[in-house]
Amino acid sequence: MDIFTEKLTLKTHLSKLKAQNKTIGFIPTMGALHKGHLSLIKKAQKKNDIVVVSIFVNPTQFDKAEDLINYPKTLENDIQLLQSVACNVLFHPSVKEVYGKNTVSEKFNFDGLEHEMEGKYRDGHFDGVGTVVKTLFEIVNPDTAYFGQKDFQQLQIIKKMVKQNRLPLKVKGCKIFREKNGLAMSSRNARLSKEHRAAATFIYKTLKKTKKRFHTKSVNEICDWVTNQFKNHPLLQLEYFTIADEKTLKTIEIKESDKKYRAFIAVFAGEIRLIDNIPLR
Ligand code: PAF
Repeated sequence: MDIFTEKLTLKTHLSKLKAQNKTIGFIPTMGALHKGHLSLIKKAQKKNDIVVVSIFVNPTQFDKAEDLINYPKTLENDIQLLQSVACNVLFHPSVKEVYGKNTVSEKFNFDGLEHEMEGKYRDGHFDGVGTVVKTLFEIVNPDTAYFGQKDFQQLQIIKKMVKQNRLPLKVKGCKIFREKNGLAMSSRNARLSKEHRAAATFIYKTLKKTKKRFHTKSVNEICDWVTNQFKNHPLLQLEYFTIADEKTLKTIEIKESDKKYRAFIAVFAGEIRLIDNIPLR
């Protein structure tokens, strides 16, 4: 695997490959790689000649300084994992290399997608994500980029950004990769205590029950039921639960037969904030 820390050398390397008509699949990450990331890499390998992974803990997408400081950083282990799945290229730049002198984000208008759900709780988060992903796309110039559906709102926003800026690439959303017990894989899981990790399986169990209820109950009834499930939970604290239209990400109150909906949830397990979602149709 070739490892690059400078964007210019990476660009030169990749443009040589592009000149040989090689296709490039790209997986942007913040490291602390897990099986979910590896499944994205495998997916990219099936469809592309070259797979590029970036590891960059992007400071502008964190609204809380301690969250950035505590974000798991496991570069040695990540490199070994990438080598074990025969990834071709790792891009691991410094903050200065990505942002230059000013570590600030661009201000985006994603047609309102950025104001829903996560946008209400994480100030400036999607400006940070948009800025870094756009920058990485410009550096790597991939044919296809792969993202997990756990961050479904992020995925929709990135698709919107690609469309708005007419960037010449495809964005593929990939199914959520789960532990055997149903917990959605996330780099943040590494920070869960044993008790919180076990308790967190309740999140997906509740989502699965939500899906069943969706056929017979009203949206309000389901939301009340979920709120009650978490009300007296000793280890988990519900931040939000909502049923939203997949396209607009707007919370719904009434179901319409021709629309696709998802249930979205954010929960604190101790200090660790976990998100998950499930398609309802
Ligand atoms: O999902 C992530 O890991 C990050 O938000 C991303 C897309 C790599 C941007 O920093």
